[in-house]
Amino acid sequence: MTDRGALIDPDWWQRGVVYQLYLRSFADSDGDGVGDLAGVFDHLDHLNDGTPGSLGIDAVLLSPMYPSPGFDVGYDISDYRGIDPVFGSMADFDRLLAACHERGVAVIVDLVMNHTSHLHPWFVASRSDRDGLYGDWYLWRDRAASARLGHRRPNNWRSFFGGPAWTWDSVRGQYYLHTFLPQQPDLNWRHPEVRTAMLDVVRFWLDRGVDGFRLDVFNVFFKDFDLRSNPRRWAPGFRSWDRQRHIHDKDQPELHELLAEFRALVDTAPGRMSVGELFTGDPAAAASYVAPRHLVFDFRLSAASSDVDALAAAIDQREAAYGEERWPTVVLSNHDQPRHASRLAGDPVRDVVAKAAAVLLLTLRGTPFLYYGEELGMGDVRVPRREIVDPPARRYWPLPLWKNRDRSRAPLPWTGVRPARAWIRPSADLATRNVSAQAAQEDSVLSLYRRLIWLRRASPALRSGSFAWESRRGGVLAYWRTVPEERVLIVINTRSGTATMPLPTGTAWEAMASTYGQWAGTVAPGPIRLRAYEAVILREVPPG
Ligand code: NOJ
Repeated sequence: MTDRGALIDPDWWQRGVVYQLYLRSFADSDGDGVGDLAGVFDHLDHLNDGTPGSLGIDAVLLSPMYPSPGFDVGYDISDYRGIDPVFGSMADFDRLLAACHERGVAVIVDLVMNHTSHLHPWFVASRSDRDGLYGDWYLWRDRAASARLGHRRPNNWRSFFGGPAWTWDSVRGQYYLHTFLPQQPDLNWRHPEVRTAMLDVVRFWLDRGVDGFRLDVFNVFFKDFDLRSNPRRWAPGFRSWDRQRHIHDKDQPELHELLAEFRALVDTAPGRMSVGELFTGDPAAAASYVAPRHLVFDFRLSAASSDVDALAAAIDQREAAYGEERWPTVVLSNHDQPRHASRLAGDPVRDVVAKAAAVLLLTLRGTPFLYYGEELGMGDVRVPRREIVDPPARRYWPLPLWKNRDRSRAPLPWTGVRPARAWIRPSADLATRNVSAQAAQEDSVLSLYRRLIWLRRASPALRSGSFAWESRRGGVLAYWRTVPEERVLIVINTRSGTATMPLPTGTAWEAMASTYGQWAGTVAPGPIRLRAYEAVILREVPPG
């Protein structure tokens, strides 16, 4: 059990910046090609060394570090209370946790509780003995009586990763449900012992001293009691998942009560939080699950293009869904989605767009989750077929029905030297796009991230202010973040041409930061001229 550092602000979950660290790809301490806990420990100075020479983040979100056979790269867990040897040991975890806390950095772990690995002892016992202790811990069903349902599966549900959501198990002589891979059987959350066992896992990590939990696909835990088939819907493309309305295989009312119980448990330890990963839903669905110290990821922004109307619409939709009382997250990239630096733009404007995106990420209302590597403007990596790791990408290749998630999981390049071994294809441009090169450049994407995060730390308006539009015309997004003592105006040119934006009159302005570094100190009244994709953060100078 680690003592939590007294340095952690109790409101970090709402005021701080979270760094999503994909453990396999962050830092490899032993040269086996896979990132590990000791690698994170060795590189904590990059994250926060207490000075503006580091990123200055407030929390790290670790991808699953538990023992796993790895069919879904760690999202198939076979022991919820252990550490996979590829990442190190529990002693390494405790050492990392203590070191983070000493720096005032909180640690969030990723809990995958909708499903286990098919090799988890619970599933092994469940399939071998339907009358045993674990017999009902998963969703087992007999063949359907009606032959009208193809292959006589219990219903028409599909796996998100392709194919039917039911797999026949010849040992038990029944079908079992898996929303993802057949190697990821869904737990039966209506079974009281499943609930108790999983809440015990939460207690185990709370007792170890972790500060928060990411709840993987939490809105899928409960399925319709009678497992009714989903209605069909028309959708272009061939993915059968998309051709159903998912009203029975997720978002069931019982979830709210479970969340309340989970939240009460997390709240027994002060300063802890959770963040639920909304699985396929809009901001309104996400907002419906938000609670104090419980955030919810919605991915509206990470799906929007760089077009000013698309961005403004995404922001409007979020603001309307959350209202003033509920606190959103801000996510532009993660381990399941294309990296935004290449999604929003290609070379030669990638870096300037990545910088504008950094301004957006760190100035919108909500808790920013920065995905490792975005601080370098890393883009997606082209992975040849024979090297594909991502299971659905292997399944669907070459059909354009799935974006290979390997592309956004490349090792973080610390230097320009290509790693001798890597579990996944490294970025092609690592010789120039790496931490050590960018740390030395004033105008790099990394230097901007550092400046912005430290600026944000010192700005009550950016951390907690309300949001209001100033303008969204002419390709320019301009919005206010306001608290009684500070008013900040953020102006982002979303286009490749120059743009002019009239500043509100009757006030004086001070530039806090800008992506080309051309603004500093007092800004003369009148219209400001922005270069291609330029973003600037201005503070209103109070009169007198
Ligand atoms: C959501 C995770 O983010 C993703 O990486 C994983 O494949 C699925 N859950 C299934 O566990």
